[in-house]
Amino acid sequence: MCRINTANRTMNSAKSMGHGQLWRGVGGAGAAFAEELARRGFDLLLVARRIELLQQLAGRLTAQYGIQVRSLPLDLSKPEASDQISQATSTLEIGLLVYNAAYSAVGAFFDHPLEDHLREVDTNIRTPLGLVNAFGKRSWQPGMAVSS
Ligand SMILES: NC(=O)c1ccc[n+]([C@@H]2O[C@H](COP(=O)([O-])OP(=O)(O)OC[C@H]3O[C@@H](n4cnc5c(N)ncnc54)[C@H](OP(=O)(O)O)[C@@H]3O)[C@@H](O)[C@H]2O)c1
Repeated sequence: MCRINTANRTMNSAKSMGHGQLWRGVGGAGAAFAEELARRGFDLLLVARRIELLQQLAGRLTAQYGIQVRSLPLDLSKPEASDQISQATSTLEIGLLVYNAAYSAVGAFFDHPLEDHLREVDTNIRTPLGLVNAFGKRSWQPGMAVSS
């Protein structure tokens, strides 16, 4: 999860976080984060590869909590993923980024092709870093610190 702090407030409450919230990964931990933030009244943008899963969760959270939920089906292991998300959210105010997707090439290093290790880099480093850069730039002001 990435959070933007200011000198005198932490932007992690429904009132201070703006309208749009952004989620990555809608299974497991991502779904739990989405559920809790929906319960607190946050609007959400959900990102994962499986559109059916996204729509299912979006429908349930909308019905249960009366919030707005958008879905963005996308593969976060693609090098262009953060640019695509940034473009798709250019008109939204994003107050919080939660990044739960990850990829691990489990086992001995040379048992995996190089492509697997590069996929780790893209999923676990390149895309979240690109998102912190994109969303941080939109809202950063002198005095703010960015943590991830
Ligand atoms: N749970 C733990 O205790 C734990 C501990 C340490 C590390 N981790 C790691 O943390 C990550 C999340 O854990 P979890 O338990 O929440 O896993 P999970 O139940 O498998 O959920 C992962 C979510 O991320 C999405 N996702 C995965 N890869 C994606 C990609 N390339 N592009 C877009 N969306 C993607 C999946 O949806 P789609 O498949 O539809 O894309 C799914 O909604 C995993 O990589 C896991 O290995 C988990």
